[in-house]
Amino acid sequence: MTVCVTVLLSLTIGGLAFAQASKRHEQAVQQKPFGTNDGRPVNLYTLTNANGVEVDTMNYGGIILSIRVPDRKGQFADIVLGHENLDGYIPNPPYIGAIVGRYANRIANGTFTLDGKTYTLPKNDGPNTLHGGTDKTFNKVVWDGEPLKGKAGVTYTYLSKDGDDGFPGNVKVRVTYTLTNDNELVIDYEATTDKATPINLSQHSYFNLAGQGTSDILNHELMLNADRFTPVDKNLIPTGELRPVKGTPLDFTTSTKVGARIDDTYDQMVLGHGYDHNWVITRKGDGLTLAARMYEPTSGRVLEVSTTQPGVQFYTGNFLDGTVTGKQGHVYKHRYGFCLETQHFPDSPNHPDFPSTVLKPGETFRSKTVFKFSTK
Ligand code: BGC
Repeated sequence: MTVCVTVLLSLTIGGLAFAQASKRHEQAVQQKPFGTNDGRPVNLYTLTNANGVEVDTMNYGGIILSIRVPDRKGQFADIVLGHENLDGYIPNPPYIGAIVGRYANRIANGTFTLDGKTYTLPKNDGPNTLHGGTDKTFNKVVWDGEPLKGKAGVTYTYLSKDGDDGFPGNVKVRVTYTLTNDNELVIDYEATTDKATPINLSQHSYFNLAGQGTSDILNHELMLNADRFTPVDKNLIPTGELRPVKGTPLDFTTSTKVGARIDDTYDQMVLGHGYDHNWVITRKGDGLTLAARMYEPTSGRVLEVSTTQPGVQFYTGNFLDGTVTGKQGHVYKHRYGFCLETQHFPDSPNHPDFPSTVLKPGETFRSKTVFKFSTK
């Protein structure tokens, strides 16, 4: 149950005193039935914090359907692409709002070798496996959902079976979304396995801080805390190089308009059809580190992304082409949303020099990503 209490705030600005009505909400999670998939019930969970920020998520694909946050004048808007009902997400070719795994991003030629054994995965992106394959990928299965007690949060758990989409091991995955009263959406990932397997988990929300479906994201301004990126070949597979961003259109070490260099003729921009690359987060140690700050000047909304992961894929919705119609009949056109997918580097199973993605029996994979919403 969400309880809203109207309070009077007295403000004194420049000697003038005036009262402003404002709503105080109780931090809570509300659950309601949202249909079925594969014979299993799907629930919608609405997380609400004390500031009235709301996040809608469901246990189908762990999908985030909407995030409603205020602009600098206090006007709320939904800032992620999505659909109003479950059917809209079946299928969901752009992976809108979903948890992606077992292996977020690409594995070259749909194959990798681990402990002397070669594994073959379904190819769904030219010669590559993208976001875990085709069958029981994390974006399109029904997870178990459990609302958190006394907090605006929900935990999703899923058992990915040995051999699913060609990956080894029974993998237990747990993803918790918690909405704090500091307007942070905290995402905690955990996984265990009974056989060694690569694992890479991410969240595939498409943001538009001006409000979803209203415009492209080219006037947003981005800072990325990354001095290097992993350049790609024509199949968007990392070449293995860690290339300095300095002097390239991928340099966002100081805040820069997303659209300023997106159509540059630099080879990486042509290969990516815009931004679709993994940046190497500049970090001291492996704790929670700021990876990105995105600002939208007309609304004043700011999104900060912090993570314990080594990389972040900044993707500018280059493959959105107007074929998906989402919430309120909005047509999702070219570059109408951006993703900041915290992750291990793409194709790590085939790059021994990259930070390892191998999870072994007895170990627990843990990572944390925080989306913090504010205005300026
Ligand atoms: C990839 C894009 C892809 C998108 C949707 C992103 O993570 O980097 O190339 O089009 O996901 O699948």
